[in-house]
Amino acid sequence: MKHASTSESDVFFRIRVDKISPVPAYAQITEGMKNLLQPGSIPAGTPLPPERVLCERLGVSRMTLRQACEALEREGLIESHRGRGTFVAPRRMTKKQQEMRSFTEEIRSRGQKPSSRLIVFRNVKQSPEDSEFFGLPETESFYEIERLRLADDVPIALECIHIPEYLCPGLDRFNLVSHSIYQILEENYGLVLAHCSEEISAVAPTKKHKRLLQANGAVLVVNRRTYTNKETPVELATTAYRGDLYRAVVHSIRKTGEAY
Ligand code: GLP
Repeated sequence: MKHASTSESDVFFRIRVDKISPVPAYAQITEGMKNLLQPGSIPAGTPLPPERVLCERLGVSRMTLRQACEALEREGLIESHRGRGTFVAPRRMTKKQQEMRSFTEEIRSRGQKPSSRLIVFRNVKQSPEDSEFFGLPETESFYEIERLRLADDVPIALECIHIPEYLCPGLDRFNLVSHSIYQILEENYGLVLAHCSEEISAVAPTKKHKRLLQANGAVLVVNRRTYTNKETPVELATTAYRGDLYRAVVHSIRKTGEAY
């Protein structure tokens, strides 16, 4: 284990707590830590100074420091490991739940370079899930497209989608390694992808996840059902993200004025 008195950890002593400020001390510490951690310049795994030392230097009680650390842990900026201490957490990509984005858009919005490796592209008959979601005749053919999705050349997700062929005949002539499927569907087939519903669950990595994603911990599986602006079901997708590199944040708004 790294020792917490390394110079890397000394950066936390820069935080200042203004005792006469109306802002509670714990909130000032949370803010100060965020300013230090959010640019991503402190390497993941850097230990925070021991609680006792940090309390002394900041002039606050353990309870105040714990309150701040709990808030930072909830936001995924630090991680505490029982008996070992508290560490800077690895940076995870955050999914913006309220916007329906393609993988390409999501990765670009984080300043990273998206890329894909095509694993499977074939025509298949419908599965029971397809039949339930798309409600198409049994004879309808589907494209099954499986791609490994990368951000800055690091595999982040393994994605398998089913799209009915009648919506985008000749999809096989496009290069799905270098192009966004959503962009192809919108620009070449005139489909307006409007909304989706997603179901998120965690699973233990399969052999395939381990091999292609190098995932050893839990994998976050997002099942997306996508519709056009005319409410036509267009895509049934399963995306398995590496749980240590990706997290889903759900923003919810509470309806006001509702009686219980
Ligand atoms: C996300 C969605 C998938 C969708 C994909 C399209 O990963 N979860 O349902 O198929 O984006 O990505 P792109 O347009 O970059 O190929």
